[in-house]
Amino acid sequence: MDLSVLFLLLLAAVATTVNATDHIVGANKGWNPGINYTLWANNQTFYAGDYISFRYKKTEYNVFLVNETGYDNCTIEGALGNWTSGKDFIMLNETERYYFICGTGGCLNGMKVSVVVHPLPTPPMSAIVPRHSSEKSAAPAAARGFRSLLAMSFAFFGLTLCGSVWI
Ligand SMILES: *[C@@H]1O[C@H](CO)[C@@H](O)[C@H](O)[C@H]1NC(C)=O
Ligand SMILES: *[C@@H]1O[C@H](CO)[C@@H](O)[C@H](O)[C@H]1NC(C)=O
Ligand SMILES: *[C@@H]1O[C@H](CO)[C@@H](O)[C@H](O)[C@H]1NC(C)=O
Ligand SMILES: *[C@@H]1O[C@H](CO)[C@@H](O)[C@H](O)[C@H]1NC(C)=O
Ligand SMILES: *[C@@H]1O[C@H](CO)[C@@H](O)[C@H](O)[C@H]1NC(C)=O
Ligand SMILES: *[C@@H]1O[C@H](CO)[C@@H](O)[C@H](O)[C@H]1NC(C)=O
Repeated sequence: MDLSVLFLLLLAAVATTVNATDHIVGANKGWNPGINYTLWANNQTFYAGDYISFRYKKTEYNVFLVNETGYDNCTIEGALGNWTSGKDFIMLNETERYYFICGTGGCLNGMKVSVVVHPLPTPPMSAIVPRHSSEKSAAPAAARGFRSLLAMSFAFFGLTLCGSVWI
């Protein structure tokens, strides 16, 4: 394999590792009272490694990661995380349901959102890469990049082989 192929491979690997989606909560309406975020969430598909981002007035609102009880009751006791910058990017690391609420009272006016994070779609070439079943439960975001890299490697090897056969 020559250097230009290696370079292309590297580029492809970089391109596939940074393609996580940023889901902006409420789109252009942001994180504010009086919006049904269930409708917003139902219109999105979240994958492990994607970002969810909240944009709001930091003097009025914030973001708390809570469990189902916290979400249902608008309470932050035992919260699993909180963000206050006004423009928070939160990576959805695990394939599970996440619950976010506003901790300044906005939750009671609808500032709550629950999202289900799905495992990464299987890259087409991964059929030839053995997978371990433990990978599914952990679903580490880094695995995406690695799997993509493997897939790309196989694709390039395939192309190179075809090329040499044809020439
Ligand atoms: C938001 O929309 C969902 C889906 O249509 C609905 O079930 C829910 O009751 C709505 N929530 C509020 C607070 O209106
Ligand atoms: C759902 O997504 C489409 C396409 O991105 C957008 O045009 C539409 O406004 C969205 N609907 C809601 C309720 O967010
Ligand atoms: C949450 O609220 C429900 C009623 O809305 C109540 O029955 C339950 O005890 C509350 N849970 C907690 C942990 O406060
Ligand atoms: C949520 O966390 C609170 C506080 O830690 C706890 O009392 C409650 O049982 C938890 N609820 C669920 C559904 O895990
Ligand atoms: C918010 O998170 C920080 C750590 O990031 C923690 O020290 C603090 O107790 C949290 N606040 C609340 C109210 O849970
Ligand atoms: C995901 O992992 C990163 C890095 O460990 C961490 O900063 C972030 O808070 C995590 N996301 C959630 C929702 O816990």
